[in-house]
Amino acid sequence: MRKLIAGMKISVDGKMEGPEGMADWVDAWSEDYGLTPQIDGCLLGAGMYPGYERYWTAIQAAPQTPAWITGKPPTPAEIEWARFVPQTPHYVLSSTLTSALWPTTRFVRSLDEIAALKQQPGKDIYLVGGARTTASLVDAGLVDELRLIAHPLIAGESKALFATTKRRRGLDLRTVQQLPGGRVSLIY
Ligand SMILES: NC(=O)c1ccc[n+]([C@@H]2O[C@H](COP(=O)([O-])OP(=O)(O)OC[C@H]3O[C@@H](n4cnc5c(N)ncnc54)[C@H](OP(=O)(O)O)[C@@H]3O)[C@@H](O)[C@H]2O)c1
Repeated sequence: MRKLIAGMKISVDGKMEGPEGMADWVDAWSEDYGLTPQIDGCLLGAGMYPGYERYWTAIQAAPQTPAWITGKPPTPAEIEWARFVPQTPHYVLSSTLTSALWPTTRFVRSLDEIAALKQQPGKDIYLVGGARTTASLVDAGLVDELRLIAHPLIAGESKALFATTKRRRGLDLRTVQQLPGGRVSLIY
């Protein structure tokens, strides 16, 4: 069975964005979890999909222009991810969205459809976010692996990654790795 692997960048207090609605402490939004070689699909919630599509389309179109959110020129890893995304199937969990810019994007309307997707042959699927989608898929027992990169700050009053999680769940820690800039990679 294909694994569904969530990757999120959080603060030490478990926040996935600041009070203004974005994690401005994150320097780059590249896929920094080492997942690219093992995946052939991405799963996202409707809350983040339109902004995500806009972000990576803009980088692909103008790789030298400072990126929205970070305000900096895209990193080589971001440019690589911007090339990867439009040619990789993206599954968007939504009951309302009906159209997307990328022809490879498909809408999924229920958690059952995600369970069925995992049964199909193929490589693993990267769960990109956002918070409510990740929390509800963890609650439903559909997430096989959680890769977190903890950034060295306490973000304060803002949205927590697991703010909407319903039930307690124990996790097995597989790997801990110290990264540049005081970040820590945690794989559960
Ligand atoms: N720090 C990080 O690494 C990171 C990574 C990714 C995203 N983010 C942040 O995450 C934020 C977006 O997260 P979000 O929580 O607002 O939205 P989200 O998880 O992207 O999307 C939630 C939406 O998904 C749809 N949905 C359908 N079934 C669902 C279900 N069973 N459970 C949950 N959602 C379901 C609903 O839309 P419909 O009304 O269409 O059904 C719901 O409003 C963004 O601000 C982004 O910056 C951070």
